[in-house]
Amino acid sequence: MEKLYYGFKDNIKVEVFDSYEGLSRAAAAFIAERMKKKPDIILGLATGSSPVGVYDELTRMYEAGDLDFSAVRSFNLDEYYPLEPENDQSYRYFMNKNLFDRVNIDKANTRVPNGMAEDIELECEEYDAAIAAAGGADIQVLGIGGNGHIGFNEPDGFFTAETHKVALTENTIKANARFFASEEEVPRFAVTMGMGAIMSAKSIVLVANGGAKAQAIASMLTGGVDPLCPASILQLHPDVNVFIDKAAAELL
Ligand code: F6R
Repeated sequence: MEKLYYGFKDNIKVEVFDSYEGLSRAAAAFIAERMKKKPDIILGLATGSSPVGVYDELTRMYEAGDLDFSAVRSFNLDEYYPLEPENDQSYRYFMNKNLFDRVNIDKANTRVPNGMAEDIELECEEYDAAIAAAGGADIQVLGIGGNGHIGFNEPDGFFTAETHKVALTENTIKANARFFASEEEVPRFAVTMGMGAIMSAKSIVLVANGGAKAQAIASMLTGGVDPLCPASILQLHPDVNVFIDKAAAELL
C-alpha cells in the first residue's frame, strides 16, 4: 500500500493511494483502531461500490480474531423508497450481504431507514431521534456521488438538515441503473439522512476511487461550501478523513 499524499487542512486529511485495495485497507484500519478503543462504537454506514473494500477488510480482521462487532451499533445513510428490505437491490440487503452477515454484529443493533414505512415523515423523525439519542455516530462512513452527493443529499439550492424523502436526480438514477435489470426499475425516491445527522458524527471517513469522482472530490475540498456540491459541507466538519486513489485525486 503506497500512500502518496497526506494532509490538507487542519480539519480535513486526504490520503491518496495507488490502488483501491490500499485506500480500503487504510480506511478500515482507521475504523478498526476506533472500534478497539470503543467496542460499543456507533457506526454510520454507507452502501454503494466505494465502501465494499472497507467492509471486506473489516470482515477479514474479524475473521482473524482482531475485531469484535458484538457491541457495535450502526445507522445506515439511506434506503430506496419504496423498496422492500428483502429486495436484493435494497440497501438493507446490501449491508447484510457485505458486512452484517459476515461479522458478529447483532442485527437488532443495525438500522437502515425503512423503505416501506407507511408514514415516511414519522420514519424520518424517528430515525433522527434514534441517532440523536445514541449521541450521533462516532464514525460516519461516506462515499460520494459523481455530482458531489453524500447519502442521497443531491445538489440543490440549500442543505437539508433532517432525514427526509428525496426524488433521485436523473444523474443518480442513471448511475445506479447498473445494479438493476433496467433503468426503469430504479426506484425514483429514497430516504436519506440529512446533513444534521451526518455532521453530528464525531469523525467522517470518506472513500472514493476512479476518475469519475475526481471533479466531485475537487469541488468538495476546494470549491467553497456550496449546496450544489453537497459534500462541500464537510469543510465545516472538525474531523474529515478522505481516502482516495490517484484517479479520484487527479484534479486536486
Ligand atoms: C450510499 C450513498 C451514496 C453513495 C454514492 C457513491 O449509501 O449514500 O451517496 O455513497 O452514490 O456510490 P458508489 O460508491 O457506488 O460510487
